[in-house]
Amino acid sequence: MSFAYRAGTLHAEQVPLEDIARTHGTPCYVYSRAAIERAYDAYATALAGRDALLCYSVKSNSNLAVLDVLARKGAGFDIVSGGELARVQAAGGDPGKTMFSGVGKSEAEIARAIEAGILCLNLESEAELERVAAVAASLGRRAPVAFRVNPDVDAKTHPYISTGLKQNKFGIAQEDAERLYRRAASLSALEVVGIGCHIGSQLTEAAPLIEAAKRIAALADRIEQAGIPLAHIDVGGGIGIRYRDEALPPVGEIVGAIAGALAGRRESLIMDPGRSIVGNAGLLLTRVEYVKPGSVKNFLVVDAAMNDLLRPALYGAWHEVRSVRQPSPGAGGVVYDVVGPVCESADCLAKDRALSAQTGDLLAIMSAGAYGMAMSSNYNSRPRPAEVLVDAGAARLVRERESVDGLFALERRLD
Ligand code: LLP
Repeated sequence: MSFAYRAGTLHAEQVPLEDIARTHGTPCYVYSRAAIERAYDAYATALAGRDALLCYSVKSNSNLAVLDVLARKGAGFDIVSGGELARVQAAGGDPGKTMFSGVGKSEAEIARAIEAGILCLNLESEAELERVAAVAASLGRRAPVAFRVNPDVDAKTHPYISTGLKQNKFGIAQEDAERLYRRAASLSALEVVGIGCHIGSQLTEAAPLIEAAKRIAALADRIEQAGIPLAHIDVGGGIGIRYRDEALPPVGEIVGAIAGALAGRRESLIMDPGRSIVGNAGLLLTRVEYVKPGSVKNFLVVDAAMNDLLRPALYGAWHEVRSVRQPSPGAGGVVYDVVGPVCESADCLAKDRALSAQTGDLLAIMSAGAYGMAMSSNYNSRPRPAEVLVDAGAARLVRERESVDGLFALERRLD
């Protein structure tokens, strides 16, 4: 286990979280390199012997050190902006193994991606198809493209993170696919290389992923029969993690089942997981500022807030909270809401948790490696936390805590 109690105190690999808090302060994101690598290996092992590429979804955690760890493992990347492309390049990732998704790519982003030698642009509309062709032509280049098709499969997850239904803004409709593939194939500035989908996130069952893969494969058959060969099928990301008590098959089993549904196919298989690589490889370390008992609710006011970890406020997401000092067996604790200093009632990181804590104690908010720092903001003029990557016995600062001066360094007073 990458985060476990040893000698009565919670560690990240071999490093006590207390040491990290002392050296780097709180709030602070802490990641385990071994946990990231293990999660990646679970995919790689399940895909061994198959022509496959794992494109880590950068949006889930885009810290350069995290990207670096994964690039060294041979990962490709799934990006959604020019900013993410720049991060991949700065981290030593290979643009030739990087897919560019997203419904709103600008001309400048498309041009940069083509010039960088991107693996493919995942087109999400007819208008985008024409734009990419025009940009490629103006550069005198051919742009590698795939379509993201909306397979109209219910991912059975939170509506905010469900993306594969007809009412969602993502992808092209299945019934438009053949026409748009023919159009793309007719344009000399485009090189059709694949087909893809992504139906949603935090999926706890394999069935919707398998159903989507089958629908995409059936479409691929029709497109190939129309004389347009495809080099890859991208089945997206979306495999969930255990935050609380989700009954989730091991990743390898789900990946194996998806690969099985596409067995015998000629195209290479691409997957773009984010959460299942980094989610349980990170935690948010925070310190109790105040204990605030009340007649209806007791509060632990901590120094982390919704601007640091938005998921509970935005999705009602549940994250386990652990005391860094190991509770003695049988110690019941008091039931608290763990809240931050931000001026919003939604600024609650965890509700109704039995904890025994005093001012100054450290708490770890678990499963915060994905969509944690990546979705943070400066709301209430709060500098973003530091980020630390632990590798065995070494804790390395991989992003400095933001400074207060930095908060408004780009702003100007009136003359
Ligand atoms: N591929 C595409 C095209 C995506 O849009 C996404 C995530 C992924 C891959 C990676 O999905 P994952 O393996 O991480 O489930 N902020 C939300 C999650 C939003 C996911 C957006 N798309 C959360 O905190 O739960």
